[in-house]
Amino acid sequence: MEQWMKLALICICLICHEIATVEAARAKLDTLMADDSSSDGSSLSSSGSSGDSSSNGSGDSSDKGSGGTLSSASSGGSNKGSNSFNVMDYGAKADGKNDDSKAFQQAWSEACNATGKVKVIIPNGEYFLNPIQFSGPCPNVQALIFQMQGTLKASTDLSKYGDGDGWLEFGWVDHLTITGGGTFDGQGAVSWPYNQCPKQKDCKVLPTSVKFLSTNNTVVEGVTSLNSKFFHMALLNCINFKGSGITIKAPGDSPNTDGIHLESNTGVTLSGSNIGTGDDCISIGQGNTQVSISGITCGPGHGISVGSLGRYKTEKDVGSIIVRDSTFIETINGVRIKTWANSPTSTKASNMTFENLTMKNVGTPILIDQTYCPYVKCDNSTSSRVKLNDIKFKNIHGTASMAEAVVLECSKGVPCQNISLQNINLKHNGSETLKSTCLNAMAEFSGTNSLPPCS
Ligand SMILES: *[C@@H]1O[C@H](CO)[C@@H](O)[C@H](O)[C@H]1NC(C)=O
Ligand SMILES: *[C@@H]1O[C@H](CO)[C@@H](O)[C@H](O)[C@H]1NC(C)=O
Ligand SMILES: *[C@@H]1O[C@H](CO)[C@@H](O)[C@H](O)[C@H]1NC(C)=O
Ligand SMILES: *[C@@H]1O[C@H](CO)[C@@H](O)[C@H](O)[C@H]1NC(C)=O
Ligand SMILES: *[C@@H]1O[C@H](CO)[C@@H](O)[C@H](O)[C@H]1NC(C)=O
Ligand SMILES: *[C@@H]1O[C@H](CO)[C@@H](O)[C@H](O)[C@H]1NC(C)=O
Ligand SMILES: *[C@@H]1O[C@H](CO)[C@@H](O)[C@H](O)[C@H]1NC(C)=O
Ligand SMILES: *[C@@H]1O[C@H](CO)[C@@H](O)[C@H](O)[C@H]1NC(C)=O
Repeated sequence: MEQWMKLALICICLICHEIATVEAARAKLDTLMADDSSSDGSSLSSSGSSGDSSSNGSGDSSDKGSGGTLSSASSGGSNKGSNSFNVMDYGAKADGKNDDSKAFQQAWSEACNATGKVKVIIPNGEYFLNPIQFSGPCPNVQALIFQMQGTLKASTDLSKYGDGDGWLEFGWVDHLTITGGGTFDGQGAVSWPYNQCPKQKDCKVLPTSVKFLSTNNTVVEGVTSLNSKFFHMALLNCINFKGSGITIKAPGDSPNTDGIHLESNTGVTLSGSNIGTGDDCISIGQGNTQVSISGITCGPGHGISVGSLGRYKTEKDVGSIIVRDSTFIETINGVRIKTWANSPTSTKASNMTFENLTMKNVGTPILIDQTYCPYVKCDNSTSSRVKLNDIKFKNIHGTASMAEAVVLECSKGVPCQNISLQNINLKHNGSETLKSTCLNAMAEFSGTNSLPPCS
């Protein structure tokens, strides 16, 4: 469990080249972990005070605030079949000011302790929330629907957040669905000036808005995430996660506001979503397999990245990744693979396909960087030990704003193998002639390409 929590806590980050957060974040969280003695699933569980399990919400719990209407609780019919838990029935004020955290926590607790298909209902309105851990296991629940119509607003008081904690953490649940058209508003603008990570290595990491920790069969659809303090969403150790119709927005110059960061997951499908942030739209870190990304509109931001990889000893291989049918608008990069030099262990990243992508005024549409270094200087005395193999870039068209539109800079120690580029049709958005650069890369160009191959 300890290793587990480690992964959970290490919200490893994918950061823009100019930013130094990953290392700092991880170092910080490693430190935190060391004195975390309650590292198990239950440490995420409810701190709600209500010990009763009156599942119809009309119960005797005396601290339900203003006495909600108790109406929705009966929407399921009889007491036994009543499986909807409306936060209003637990004292939520929905005025955007009153702290509604306890109401949410209690509604979750009771839903999680109920049987069958259960719903947590969040009606229209604004809910001011401090950090909350929505955790399982929920032993008798078959499916838990988090039906959010309202806007959830994060506390801007950073002292409320534990070091390394997210704002809203969903952990150890199976068959969770988050839907309803609602919004997670991280209210990050107030905190961005306190993010020192772009400037210094040893920085305090701000909270990620929504984290999923060791969940199975999660669905997130039709929700919005705005202005996270740090990452918008992070998935750690999840199995079978599907996200669609997600809108993520933060200004292009907001620090470290990655859209969706993936770490150690198996089976992630992200589709039909619109992501514009100040960092990577989606970042695929170590240990991920079977990741399928399609129908993403990305921009502003740094593009969709695999990495950064090869920084830490405990990293696992990455494989079976596909990114397709997506559009990049004025992003710094399009698709990118980044690994550090001096990697402590040998890992592999292979079987990755980037296909049917449109670039609009994108800096470097195709980039492999195996000397990734977000700091002024990194230890590059040995080359990256992350082996990149079997990588396909196919049907990529549109405009680039840098002359070097295709850059494949692989490791000297473990050159890239079996890189294929097919039908790369890019033009400069001004008048320059585009070129491709290769270093230690066995790349094969085929089909019709608008720029000369490198070798
Ligand atoms: C709800 O539960 C309370 C106590 O647990 C019970 O008295 C009441 O009849 C129940 N109401 C419904 C609608 O089932
Ligand atoms: C479920 O109820 C039990 C006892 O009533 C309580 O100890 C436990 O914390 C509850 N579980 C959740 C997730 O709230
Ligand atoms: C998720 O699935 C894994 C593998 O089957 C299992 O070990 C784990 O307990 C499951 N977790 C939950 C929360 O259901
Ligand atoms: C390669 O990845 C694809 C998904 O993009 C997957 O269907 C296929 O099974 C993978 N092949 C191997 C050998 O892992
Ligand atoms: C890319 O587009 C072509 C033509 O529309 C289609 O045949 C192919 O299946 C697409 N590739 C992927 C990986 O979706
Ligand atoms: C080319 O793209 C860059 C980056 O998006 C942009 O700043 C520039 O204005 C574009 N140039 C033209 C001529 O559109
Ligand atoms: C290491 O990085 C420095 C700049 O930080 C560069 O000058 C040098 O060429 C690099 N060495 C290798 C082996 O890449
Ligand atoms: C090289 O890549 C192609 C297409 O991606 C794949 O079919 C082939 O098996 C790969 N070969 C090796 C040696 O990895």
